[in-house]
Amino acid sequence: MYTIKWNGDSVSMLDQRLIPAEETYNTYTSYLDVAASITDMVIRGAPAIGIAAAMGIALAAKNLKSSALQDFKKNMNDVCEVFARTRPTAVNLFWSINRMKKIIEDSGDISEMRKSLEKEAVTILEDDIRINRAIGKNGSSYIADGDVVMTHCNAGALATGGYGTALGVIRAAVEEGKKISVFACETRPYLQGARITSWELMMDNIPVTLITDNMSGHFMKSGMIKKIIVGADRVAANGDTANKIGTYTHSVLAREHRIPFYIAAPLSTLDMNTKTGDEIVIEERSIDEVAYIQGVQIAPEGIAIRNPAFDVTPAGNITAIITEKGVIENPVNGGIAKIFGS
Ligand code: MRU
Repeated sequence: MYTIKWNGDSVSMLDQRLIPAEETYNTYTSYLDVAASITDMVIRGAPAIGIAAAMGIALAAKNLKSSALQDFKKNMNDVCEVFARTRPTAVNLFWSINRMKKIIEDSGDISEMRKSLEKEAVTILEDDIRINRAIGKNGSSYIADGDVVMTHCNAGALATGGYGTALGVIRAAVEEGKKISVFACETRPYLQGARITSWELMMDNIPVTLITDNMSGHFMKSGMIKKIIVGADRVAANGDTANKIGTYTHSVLAREHRIPFYIAAPLSTLDMNTKTGDEIVIEERSIDEVAYIQGVQIAPEGIAIRNPAFDVTPAGNITAIITEKGVIENPVNGGIAKIFGS
């Protein structure tokens, strides 16, 4: 099983919309199809959509007809704009596009640019897997033998190049021999927890119990849940963190019940250009994701519906942010800048 793969002249990815019913891989030869795969959630998760964009840009460079260098660069910058419009919240997407843009800008000829873009896209994928293993290693000491750990959405292998961030920490703890079990929140409305996290953990034989999102307070109050660990789509310079809708609610309940609340994320998710969570653009998705479940209408026709895909957890509710470079404990105290050495 893999999330996404570069084939030299095409990009293959697992169609995550079909999990767990079907394990189908789609192969795209057009960059526009790769961009649509991000918007349409064939691939999702902050690091994974960054990788998909990089590969889509490399693919476009291969397929675009050669022209004068400056024209080619202009066309490639237009391609980058297409990817920048796919989803607004996860900063990894823009981090990855900016890496590709730098190569476009610096290239002295078209064939060199094509090769460098391809190499960069593959490097972003390979680095991501290494980074996730480092996050896992840095975070596993926060998980004790016997813990029940709750997670929300999917910050696993399928949200990344492989291994996962939040699930990477859980995997690393299990690899160290700790006997832990996971409570996965279903994650309405798109059900990434029910469909993807549950599936991933079951494939790895990690004990997992599925709950609906509104059960988390009940299980926190009962003392069952010992730790909470989730991923992130964008961490602002002050530590405020955007993640899947519902994360904020869990964080408030965690604070009430004094349960440690961890974010696991690569440095590419930390955005020093966004000062606080108030500046983060929250994606609003189709109301049909709320009105229908797997094609079945569950709300009256014409009802007003809102569907923000993410919310922002204030830094004060976060016990620590686990990165590949180290752990930022109590991020409310300016630890984000320190990890970048500024
Ligand atoms: O809408 P999605 O499925 O792309 O949202 C995914 C999340 O919110 C994840 O928690 C986040 O991207 C981190 S993935 C390592």
